[in-house]
Amino acid sequence: MDNTIAGKVINGRRLVLLPLPLQGHLSPMLQLANILHSTGFSITILHTLFNSPNPSNYLHFTFLPIPGTCEVNFSDIDKDKVVSLLFYINSKFLDPVRECLVRLMSEDDGVACLITDAQWFGTQSVADGLKLPRIVHRTSSISSFLLFAKSPALLDTGCFRQGIDEERKSETLVQGLEPLKVKDLPKFLTSEPEGVCKVLELMAKATKRAQALIWNTFKELEERDLEVLSQDFPNPHFLIGPFHKYFPASSSSLLTPDETSLSWLDKHPPNSVIYVSFGSLVKIEESRFLEIAWGLANSKQPFLWVVRPGSIEGSGWLEPLPDEFLEIIVEGRGYIVKWAPQQDVLAHRATGCFWTHNGWNSTLESICEGVPMICSPSFGDQLPNARYVSDVWKIGVELEHGFEREEIESAINRVLVDEEGLEFRNRINNIKGKVDICLKRGGSSYSSLEDLVDFILSF
Ligand code: UDX
Repeated sequence: MDNTIAGKVINGRRLVLLPLPLQGHLSPMLQLANILHSTGFSITILHTLFNSPNPSNYLHFTFLPIPGTCEVNFSDIDKDKVVSLLFYINSKFLDPVRECLVRLMSEDDGVACLITDAQWFGTQSVADGLKLPRIVHRTSSISSFLLFAKSPALLDTGCFRQGIDEERKSETLVQGLEPLKVKDLPKFLTSEPEGVCKVLELMAKATKRAQALIWNTFKELEERDLEVLSQDFPNPHFLIGPFHKYFPASSSSLLTPDETSLSWLDKHPPNSVIYVSFGSLVKIEESRFLEIAWGLANSKQPFLWVVRPGSIEGSGWLEPLPDEFLEIIVEGRGYIVKWAPQQDVLAHRATGCFWTHNGWNSTLESICEGVPMICSPSFGDQLPNARYVSDVWKIGVELEHGFEREEIESAINRVLVDEEGLEFRNRINNIKGKVDICLKRGGSSYSSLEDLVDFILSF
């Protein structure tokens, strides 16, 4: 795409970016860094020593590790530890972050502004203390952020109590955020809804105080949600996504992608394969893992399945799979990898359907390649993302009963085989067309990026 911001004198002014050390957050922040670098800013990435990005993939950036951040090991983080991680880094790591910023500000280059993940909420006070402008990058969709921001109030009204069965299944609409339902409310720690709500509250409050917000989405997808958001968050909003489409497939993966996924896909006809991946954090019980396997087997459709080692509770990798299932792999109808080059897989002509957990990156990557989805959200923003995919954009189906082989088989047929699948494909291709336009000169994301550059230069 044409992403030259013409006529701006930026002269390598320095931006400091602080990502959250989780794959789904690290990737968009590094993509954002690349985008801003391409407009002429110089980039310093301030990062923790656990889940640290690989500097050799980004020789044009300066990397600065936050001292003392190797003392904890959150590298095997899963969804149940996310809330503890957020409290931890937003208390223990604020002093070292401040020290790094003071040092950078005292250097000749100075710092034009700090851009942090929204979940680094504690850094707003640090930035205020240093009189340093802070811009927030929220890595989720706008619609899910709206729901997140509303969750603490819902807790107060007794509407959101984690782990109670009737509420987990409640079809009641969330007032003002229809078609989101009570069952779409963010879920993190089943035993501790107050902790989740506290994190969300702190994030929302600190975000409100930030100079601006940067979103990895585009106006045509979330215009209505942006209007609602602007009422409560009157900060400037820059919608400059989808980030990953600015440059060829990113190199921010913390795991090594198995490139044989692509040669396996080469052997299949267009739109015939179901790609299955539940992102970097989701863990699945063995019984559900087996339902997934039999749902795939019974569908009779070819599948490429990402099974992260350690993502099946109580197993190292594929041990629970019975021999009858493994025969399907040997025969070539299925292929299992530990980690895939996902963006290339989705762009491959053979990929006809993405069975996803609906992390925002995965959802956006699927939209950008026009691949309809089967949704199995697990926690956090994945639930509202799935609701939008099935009920608002109508580009996929959600498995309403979790992982049951009959429902899985039927969903695969709906998306890959039935007439309905064509409708999903037409709708998602229509949105994909809008992505291509919004990134071109004069398009909404292109113009918003120009505005963002002007905004930063005004500091
Ligand atoms: C987490 C949360 O789960 C998600 O809800 C939130 O929106 C962001 O943080 P994660 O679970 O990892 O992220 O999901 P997602 O946002 O989809 O990000 C996963 C990334 O890993 C994607 O960019 C995807 O392309 C990449 N990926 C995934 C691979 O490169 N290979 C794989 O095999 C699987």
